[in-house]
Order: sequence, then C-alpha cells, then structure tokens
Amino acid sequence: MKELLAKPGFLADASTLGADVSYSLAVIFTGLFLASWRLAKKGLGTEHHRLIFISMVSMVVYFVAYYWARQLGVLALEGKEGFGGPESTYNNVFIPILSTHLVLVVIGLILTIYMIIQGFRASIKTNGEYTLKEGPLNVKPGRFKRVYLTLLGLWGANQILLTFVRDKSAAASLAWALIFATIAVVVSLEKLIENRLPDVAHRHRVLGRGTMIIYCLILVTSTLTYLMLYVIYPVKT
Ligand code: HEM
Repeated sequence: MKELLAKPGFLADASTLGADVSYSLAVIFTGLFLASWRLAKKGLGTEHHRLIFISMVSMVVYFVAYYWARQLGVLALEGKEGFGGPESTYNNVFIPILSTHLVLVVIGLILTIYMIIQGFRASIKTNGEYTLKEGPLNVKPGRFKRVYLTLLGLWGANQILLTFVRDKSAAASLAWALIFATIAVVVSLEKLIENRLPDVAHRHRVLGRGTMIIYCLILVTSTLTYLMLYVIYPVKT
C-alpha cells in the first residue's frame, strides 16, 4: 500500500498518488459541505440534514485515511526531508501554515460533532421534514451534572485500563486526560453559548455559518500546504 501511495501523482509533477487522492477528496468533501449550506439557505432543511450526514461520514473516513496514509503532520514534525525550500521558509511560513491547518482540523472536528447534535436538538420533524424551532432551548442543570459525572467515570475507567491492563506510558495517560478535558470544556461552553445565543434557530444558523467558514479555511490551508510541498518547493532528487 505504501508503495502504491508513493507512486507519482496526477495533479503536480512532484506529487504522489497518496497526496493527490487525499487532496482531491478534501476538495470534494468541502464542496459537499458548501452544497449543504446552499440547501439550508434555500430553506431545504431535510436535504441539508441528509447531505451534512453524507459529508460528515465521508469527512471522517477521509481524515482517518489522510493521516494514516500520508502522515503529513508526522513528516513535518520529523524534519524537513519532504520540503525542498529554504530553511527560513520552512520555519516561518510552512510550519505556521501547517500548524494552523492542524488546529483548524481539530476545531472543525469538534464543531462538526457539536453541530450534528445541536442540529437535531434545534430541529423539529413534521411530516418527515426538518425545520428549525424558534425560541430558547437550554440544557437542564441536572443533565450537565450527569454528563460531567459520566465523563469522570469514563476517564477513570480508561485510566485504570491504561495503567493496569494495557501498561501504557504516562504520555498516553496525559493524552487521554487532555481528550477528556477538551470534551468537558466543550460541554461547559454550552452554557455560555446558551446565554449569548438564546434563540435556538439563530444559534444553529450562527454556529453553522462559523463551522462552514472553518471548513473553507481548512481547505485553504491544505491547498497552501499542498502547493508548498509539491509545486513551489518540491524535494529535488
Ligand atoms: C455539521 C453540521 C451542521 C452544520 C455546519 C449546519 C449548518 C447550517 C447553516 C449554516 C444553516 C443556515 C443557512 C443560512 O441561513 O445561511 C443551517 C440551517 C438549518 N439546519 Fe443545519 N447544520 C448542521 C447540521 C444540521 C442537522 C444535523 C440538522 C437536522 C437534524 C440541521 C437542520 C437545519 C435546518 C432545519 C435548518 C434551517 C433551514 C431553513 O432555513 O429552513 N442542520 N444549518
């Protein structure tokens, strides 16, 4: 598989098949998200919801394949072997763009999960058609408590598993602690979001537009990364 992905690509002289397939998929999935935004703008809530679902599943498959097959982040963190340009450009331009890309990817993934759940909570289905509810929608304080306790329980169980069964390092425990802490922070942000955007339909529209803009920025930063690696500064062999 590795050899196949390393074969010459079809988009640029210096690119690889793996890089070109993953970049083409990024373009297609961003296109699907933007098309679902257009559907929502036209008031086609059900079609919007269906396309969002297809795009999300495809995007998750893409992300897994992207980091597994291409290991772009790993390449960049290991050194500049994959970058043929000057060291100053690598440090001052390439790395900041790549870091921004990775941060946006993480924010995009968190927002996607949040928006899918929010989309269902904000919508009402009548005669098979989704429309947004108007008015306030708040999570009950008791539910917040239950979510935090569940998170704490899951973290504790996972920690016991990591330490006593899987014999994992302290770094693995720290990484998992950070993941659970991120989920807890996102949950606690919900109260702030409810206060700032009390109307649930308005909340879905504002956060949805923000999420769509993040998807576009992810595509912009991955395009810049692609161009720098394979078009502007390819490694000369
Ligand atoms: C990643 C997830 C999602 C994103 C980014 C998103 C984004 C958006 C945006 C930007 C709008 C407003 C369009 C505009 O006026 O500019 C919107 C409207 C809407 N969304 Fe979502 N959405 C998501 C998930 C969902 C889900 C899961 C549902 C239903 C279960 C849903 C149902 C609706 C409905 C009914 C509307 C109103 C359409 C109308 O104006 O009639 N959305 N969404």
